[in-house]
Amino acid sequence: MTLFDAFRFDGKRVLVVGGASGMGAAAAQLALDAGAEVLVADIAPITADGVQAIAIDLADTDSIDAAVEALDGPVHVLLGAAGVADGTAGLERINFLGHRYLIERLLAADLLPRGAAIGLISSAAGLGWESNLPLLQEYLAIPDFHDAARWVVGQGKADYMFSKQAVCAYVATQALTLRARGIRINAICPGATDTPLARANAERWLGFGTDYREAAGVEVSQPIEQAGPLLFLCSAAASSITGTILTADHGYFTAGVSGSFPAATPVVTFMLGR
Ligand SMILES: NC(=O)c1ccc[n+]([C@@H]2O[C@H](COP(=O)([O-])OP(=O)(O)OC[C@H]3O[C@@H](n4cnc5c(N)ncnc54)[C@H](O)[C@@H]3O)[C@@H](O)[C@H]2O)c1
Repeated sequence: MTLFDAFRFDGKRVLVVGGASGMGAAAAQLALDAGAEVLVADIAPITADGVQAIAIDLADTDSIDAAVEALDGPVHVLLGAAGVADGTAGLERINFLGHRYLIERLLAADLLPRGAAIGLISSAAGLGWESNLPLLQEYLAIPDFHDAARWVVGQGKADYMFSKQAVCAYVATQALTLRARGIRINAICPGATDTPLARANAERWLGFGTDYREAAGVEVSQPIEQAGPLLFLCSAAASSITGTILTADHGYFTAGVSGSFPAATPVVTFMLGR
């Protein structure tokens, strides 16, 4: 045993939802390297070696129920990495409500033991969620998956930004309740990251913040650069961290807040005020 073992995942079962590609696939690989037993759940085919594959459609509660029933033991780390872009049917269910339903099913089945950690992927698009808190709280207060989906569609808020703000607000509001059960919950907010999803929306996603990256001398991040912070938050090394939204965007957002990169300030000001 060394102190550094707190960063490892030996003896832990890590379930990566949305782990067939992109950041989730990188997180699954990293967890394997860090000693974990890894289960990957996705709607897409899962091709990685050394993981247990589980079919899941986060837009469909029956499918989530079946995936939970397929689990043959506890989940020590749940990584929520599934996501879709604006224009995809069921976005509100896939990006947020399905993740919430899965967490609730795992809790109800006693499959998230004390010491477990949940790491969700929100987005830089979810930053500024605090200014939208009353509406987000109204949303989060609707416990039923289908009622909540109907409500958010009815509000005209079944969009990417609101779904990512909901992830942030959910982490913030659930942290205390879960902590009392011995479970931590955190999220990362990635900036532009080179994945199949981002390439499919390249102009909006990979183009965002190009001026800042040029000034900073950095590229869009690689999936493994998001997997690292996500895994860290779920490691024993982060045992004091819960309810935290960690931004992994090469510093774009804080450069906008502080004014150290003035071109980002109007964008960030808009996000903080919306
Ligand atoms: N790539 C970026 O620039 C960027 C930036 C900020 C946040 N994000 C977020 O990061 C997360 C990971 O995305 P990525 O960029 O790695 O994309 P990706 O497409 O490579 O990975 C997303 C995964 O989600 C899965 N998925 C989609 N619909 C599903 C469903 N109904 N049920 C179960 N799984 C489903 C996909 O099959 C895929 O494996 C997403 O939540 C995304 O919104 C991405």
